[in-house]
Amino acid sequence: MTKPESPFFTLLFTISLLMHAQSSYKQIYIVYMGEKNNNNWDEFSTQSLHHSMLLEVHESIDAAKESLIYSYGRSFNGFAAMLSEEEAAIISDMEEVVSVFPNLGLELQTTRSWDFMEFTDDASKLTPPFDGRNIIIGMFDTGIWPESESFNDEGLGPPPKKWRGKCQTEHNFTCNNKIIGARYYQSFGLEEQFKSARDESGHGSHAASVAAGREVVGANYFGLAKGTAKGGAPNARIAVYKVCWNMACYAADILAAFDDAIADGVDIISASFAGYLQSRFLFNPVAIGSFHAVKNGILTIAAAGNQGPQRGGLANHPPWILTVAASTIYRKFVTPLVLGNGDVITANSINTYNVKNISYPLILGGDATNFSANYIPRESSLCFPGSLNSEKVKGKIVLCENSEGGAGVQMATGAGVIAPNRPQQNYAENYLFQTASISNKEISKVSQYIKSSNKPKANIMFSETMEDKDAPYVASFSSRGPNIFNHDILKPDLCAPGVNILGAWSPIASPSMFIGTEDFRSVEYNIISGTSVSCPHVTGAAAYVKATHPTWSPAAIKSALMTTANPMDPKMHEYEKEFAYGSGHVKPLYAVDPGLVFNATKEDYSDFFCKEGPRNGCKSTKALKPWDLNYPSLSLAVKDGNAIKGNFVRAVTNVGMPKSTYDVIIDVPHILKVKVEPSTLAFSKVGEEKFFFVEVTGPKISQVPIISGSITWVHLNHIVRIPIVVYTILPCMEFRNSSLNQHLN
Ligand SMILES: *[C@@H]1O[C@H](CO)[C@@H](O)[C@H](O)[C@H]1NC(C)=O
Ligand SMILES: *[C@@H]1O[C@H](CO)[C@@H](O)[C@H](O)[C@H]1NC(C)=O
Ligand SMILES: *[C@@H]1O[C@H](CO)[C@@H](O)[C@H](O)[C@H]1NC(C)=O
Ligand SMILES: *[C@@H]1O[C@H](CO)[C@@H](O)[C@H](O)[C@H]1NC(C)=O
Ligand SMILES: *[C@@H]1O[C@H](CO)[C@@H](O)[C@H](O)[C@H]1NC(C)=O
Repeated sequence: MTKPESPFFTLLFTISLLMHAQSSYKQIYIVYMGEKNNNNWDEFSTQSLHHSMLLEVHESIDAAKESLIYSYGRSFNGFAAMLSEEEAAIISDMEEVVSVFPNLGLELQTTRSWDFMEFTDDASKLTPPFDGRNIIIGMFDTGIWPESESFNDEGLGPPPKKWRGKCQTEHNFTCNNKIIGARYYQSFGLEEQFKSARDESGHGSHAASVAAGREVVGANYFGLAKGTAKGGAPNARIAVYKVCWNMACYAADILAAFDDAIADGVDIISASFAGYLQSRFLFNPVAIGSFHAVKNGILTIAAAGNQGPQRGGLANHPPWILTVAASTIYRKFVTPLVLGNGDVITANSINTYNVKNISYPLILGGDATNFSANYIPRESSLCFPGSLNSEKVKGKIVLCENSEGGAGVQMATGAGVIAPNRPQQNYAENYLFQTASISNKEISKVSQYIKSSNKPKANIMFSETMEDKDAPYVASFSSRGPNIFNHDILKPDLCAPGVNILGAWSPIASPSMFIGTEDFRSVEYNIISGTSVSCPHVTGAAAYVKATHPTWSPAAIKSALMTTANPMDPKMHEYEKEFAYGSGHVKPLYAVDPGLVFNATKEDYSDFFCKEGPRNGCKSTKALKPWDLNYPSLSLAVKDGNAIKGNFVRAVTNVGMPKSTYDVIIDVPHILKVKVEPSTLAFSKVGEEKFFFVEVTGPKISQVPIISGSITWVHLNHIVRIPIVVYTILPCMEFRNSSLNQHLN
C-alpha cells in the first residue's frame, strides 16, 4: 500500500529535533484508521484493538495502555497516543493505518489586538417543531457559561428523543433544556481555572449565543449595541463540546469531539477555529471529522479564518464543509479623537473607557525612549514592549507608529495610545485601554501637532455608533481564497456578519480577550469580531433550514444557503471578489425556499476524499472529475499563460413547486464565453433532478487574479444563483501536487 506523505512529518520532526535534540522525545500523535470497525461500538474492544497496536512499539501492555490518550471508535476508527517520532513512524507503516499526524493546535478565529504572546423576527414566530426545537447544534469551542440569560430554557421541553449525549457536570456545570449536553476534551494540561465545559474565555458563549441564543432584551456592552440579543435559531438545542482552551484547539481533542458528537446525535456542527498550517484532508482533523459527520448526515460549518486580506490564506477548505467569511453590518463604532488644537479625527476603534471625557497629555513614543534598557528612539517610536520610559509615559497618551504598539504603552503605564490601523483595516476593535486607531496620514498630522505644541493634549472619547451605508463588505481580516488545495472548489462559500457583534460572554473573562493581563472588567455581553463570529451566524441559519426541512441532506442545506445568498458589491472587493465572499451574504429567510438544490451524496464526498491519495479501503469508483462534484459554484483555475477552457456538469433537484420551468440568465464579463445547455429546465414534480452543462471559454490569460460572473436559474420568485470564477494559478500557488489539480489546462 502506498501512503500519502504527511506534510507535517518533516517539518515537525525537524522542530522536535531542534527542540530536544533527542528522538526519545514523546508527544501526542493522532493515528487515523478510516471507517469504524462495525456498528456495534463497544468501548472495550475498540480500546483493545488500539492497545494491541500500541503494544507493537511498547514493551508492556501497561506501557501501551498508558500511552493511549483517546480511543476513537464511536463514529470512525483511530486513536491518539503519546509516542516518539520513531514509534509514530512504525505505527504509520501498519496496514490498517491511514494517516498519522501530530497534535497541532488550531486557533480560534476572533480578532485580537496587540497579540503578544440578521435575522428577522419571523424566524421566532415559527411553531414547533419547525421553530428549531428539534435541532441540536454541536458547538465546538471554549465551552459555555451555562448561567447566561442567553441560554435559559423557558418554554423548551425535554431534549429530542434521538439525543444520546451527556452532561459533564464538573465545576457546577448544569445542563437544562437549552444546553442539553456538555463534554470537554483536554489532551494536555493547559492552564485554566476550570477543568470542565465551563467557558473561561467568553468565546464559546459568544458563538453559542450568536448561533442559538435566546432572546435577551436590553443586552449591551457598556451601553453600546444596546437592543435585543438573539441567536439565529433561538429554540435550537445546544450541545457543548469544549475543545478549545485559552484560544488553542488541539487536533486530538477536535477528533474526539467529532467522534462523540456524531454518535450523540447532533444535527449540525459549528467550528469557529482554523489552522494556518492547513493540510490535505488526511492530516487535517477538521477535514477528517467533518467528513465522517457529513457521511452521517451532519453539516459542519466552519470559519474561513482571519488571515486576510492577502490571498490564499483560507482554511477549512473541504467541499463538505460550509466555509464562512466575515462581513460588516449596517452599524459601526467610531471613536472621536479630539486634539488640544480642536482638530477632531474619527478613529477606528471601540473605546468604552474615558467616560468622564478627559484630555490627557500627549507624547511621541520616539520622545520617551528607555535608554537605560539600550533602546533607541526608532524602537520606542514603534512602542515595542519595554522600549518606553515609564516615567515619561505614565498617565499620558502615546503616539505609536505601529498598530501593535498598545502593548508597549500599557506595559509602561501610559493612559492610552494612538496607533495606525492595521493594513487595509476596515473594522473597529475592542482594546484593554483607551485606543484610537487612525490612518497613517492622520498619524503624521497628530505627530506634527505634538511637535508644534508646547503642551500637546488629546481626548480619546467614548465610542459612538454610526450607520455604515457601505455595508455589507468583507472585513479586511477575513481570509481570502482561492482554495489552494482544491482549485476546483470555490471557497469561501458565503459571508455573514462577523464585525462588532454583540453576544453572551463569560463574566470571568476579560472583554478585550487579553489573557492574563490587566483587563479585570466583567461583562455579560461583549462585542467581538472574526470569522469565529460569522460562522455561528450561518450555523443558526442552517439550523433554521434544517428545522423546516428535516430530511434534507447536508449538501441540500448548504446549497439552499448558497444559491439564495445576496450578491455582494464587487466594486468594494475589486481584486478578490468571490475569493472574499463566495456566493454572497447569507439570507436565511430565502434559504428555506430555494426552489432548486444542488444535492450530493455521501458517495460523492467519499469519492472526493479518496481522490486525495490512495488509501486503505478507499475506492474511488466514480469516473467523475473533482470539478464535477455537484457543487453550487463553479471554479476554473487556468495555468498562467493558457487559454480559458473548462466544462462542468451540474444537477439540480426541484424542491419548489412541482410544475416549474426555470430559465437561465448568464451574467459574465465580455472576456468569458459561457454556454449553458439546456437553457431551460422544465420540472413536473418535486424531487425531480435535471442536469445542465456549462462550457466556459476565453482567450489566453496571464496573472489574472479573478474574473467572475454568475449563472442564475429563475422561475417566478425563485432565484437560484451560482457564481463562476476563472483565475490563473501561478507556479508558487500550486501548493500541492494533488491528483485534484488536473483541471488545469
Ligand atoms: C459549586 O457551587 C457551590 C455553591 O455555590 C460552591 O460552594 C462550590 O465551590 C462550587 N464548586 C465548584 C467546583 O466550583
Ligand atoms: C468632550 O470633550 C471634547 C473636548 O475634548 C468636547 O469637544 C466634547 O464636547 C465633550 N463632550 C462631552 C459629552 O462633554
Ligand atoms: C527601562 O527598562 C528596564 C528593563 O526592562 C526596566 O527595568 C526599567 O524599569 C525601564 N525604565 C523605565 C523608566 O521605564
Ligand atoms: C439529496 O440526496 C439524498 C441522498 O444522498 C436524499 O436523501 C435527499 O432526499 C436528496 N434531496 C434533498 C433535498 O436533500
Ligand atoms: C506532480 O504530478 C505529476 C503528474 O500528476 C507527476 O508527473 C509529477 O512527478 C508530480 N510532481 C511532484 C513534485 O510530485
